[in-house]
Amino acid sequence: MKARIAVLAGDGVGPEVTESAVEVLMAVAARGRHTFTFIHHRIGGCAIDAEGTPLPQGTLEACKSSDAVLLGAVGGPKWDDPTAAIRPEQGLLKIRKELGLFANLRPVKPHPALLSASPIRAERLVGVDLMVIRELTGGLYFGMPRGRESVGGEIRAVDSMVYEEHEIRRVVELAFRLARDRRKKVTSVDKANVLETSRLWRQTAQSIGAANPDVTLEHMLVDTAAMRLVSSPSAFDVLVTENMFGDILTDEASVLAGSMGMLPSASLGGPGPGLYEPIHGSAPDIAGKGIANPIGTILSAAMMLRYSLHLDAEAEAIESAVDDAITEGMRTADLGGHDSLKDVTTRITSLVHHDKEDHA
Ligand code: IPM
Ligand code: MG
Repeated sequence: MKARIAVLAGDGVGPEVTESAVEVLMAVAARGRHTFTFIHHRIGGCAIDAEGTPLPQGTLEACKSSDAVLLGAVGGPKWDDPTAAIRPEQGLLKIRKELGLFANLRPVKPHPALLSASPIRAERLVGVDLMVIRELTGGLYFGMPRGRESVGGEIRAVDSMVYEEHEIRRVVELAFRLARDRRKKVTSVDKANVLETSRLWRQTAQSIGAANPDVTLEHMLVDTAAMRLVSSPSAFDVLVTENMFGDILTDEASVLAGSMGMLPSASLGGPGPGLYEPIHGSAPDIAGKGIANPIGTILSAAMMLRYSLHLDAEAEAIESAVDDAITEGMRTADLGGHDSLKDVTTRITSLVHHDKEDHA
């Protein structure tokens, strides 16, 4: 197959980790005789510096005409001024919105060899295999009105949490579809004891649950979910929740996997390409040192193969190469090890090639 992949490396460790994932994707292409074409464009702080905007028109157009988008990370201290009108993160929010990517899939499945890398007791991590589906184009991140005004001599700031029924429906329905191929359980997370948007969320989830009796639906308040994610994480299968709750809960859930650097994500839902990015940020403190963990981005590339290019066997080849590299003891600094990003990438790439020899 031929595929055109837009690579938006972004800031901080973004360029290093996307380069690793591209190297692994090239190994996949070689072993399956696929042709992947990579088109590099700017997003975030580097785009602000070079083009004055965090999501240049050329970047957006290149993404729209691609089969999938691979993204690194955006942001950094250079662009962190809270009073700045133009910020790197706006580029990320805008591309999600422009591509209609309403669902962000964040799987968390700790590797058996990494249980001790988590601060959570190992026995609680056994059997953890959950998928958070974060609503990505609504809620507090996009609601209007928003902004600042001067009221009685002081500043008043407003963000709005807004959800329309169709926005809830489509993401919860996706959660049910995904649950059907897993352990058939959906936990819908809200704050229905306080928020009107959450009451609409719960009511909508309830009606979808009634239409899909083969999947078990439970409702959970977000504060309870935050607790259960660390006290009994193996009880979850698919969690579905609004944008900001999902942002917060997935950073928390990443602790189960030993490091945020391990976790991939897929953003889906638009008529066009899906977007694949690690859940970690730009990590400016370690950028350029070659010690970042590339696995979150490499696993995001595997999700790209599965969800956008429908190359399931190739996705599995990457996932099992990553599993094997970890089993062999490869560890970047975030996992307490000394392997460099290059060491890990080279090993995973060679395992992907090797897999071909085994199964050819
Ligand atoms: C994430 C990040 C982003 C978000 C930031 C960088 C805007 O935290 O993808 O989880 O909040 O969505
Ligand atoms: Mg986040």
